[in-house]
Amino acid sequence: MEKTLVLLKPGCLQRRIAGEIIHRFERKGLKIIALKMIQMDRLTAETHYAEHREKAFYGPLVEYITSGPIIALLLEGEEAISIVRRLAGPTSVDDACPGTIRGDYAARTRLNIVHASDSPASAERECALFFRPGEVYVWEDGNQIWF
Ligand code: CMP
Repeated sequence: MEKTLVLLKPGCLQRRIAGEIIHRFERKGLKIIALKMIQMDRLTAETHYAEHREKAFYGPLVEYITSGPIIALLLEGEEAISIVRRLAGPTSVDDACPGTIRGDYAARTRLNIVHASDSPASAERECALFFRPGEVYVWEDGNQIWF
């Protein structure tokens, strides 16, 4: 089973769409194993987005992600990383088709509404940045639930 990190960026709470977006992951059959609402501090944001440090959009990206509360969640499932990436849609809103989260909710790439880990290595690093082991729940599905 894979685990992956999703961040619902500040626009989700601002626009009252956090529940709708979490619903998309749940109805696909992904399991929520950790969830919290936080306001990211600058150091966490800079650590999380370190690979983008040299990019022109880095400053505004850090400003935006620290501008208000976010929801961080860990999702678990077979192929969870690629499933979540497909549900989220491409990073660039120009490429994100209707039906994907970014295609449906985001009009600007900088405000692309969700972050999702892009590889097993990033998922491991990002999960550890946002959640301590004691905040992650191992729970079993009942026998009658199939996806
Ligand atoms: P995210 O998945 O959080 O990972 C890096 C973020 O940088 C990305 O979503 C966007 O919010 C932002 N980003 C990536 N490319 C651009 C771009 N060309 N212009 C503005 N912001 C960008």
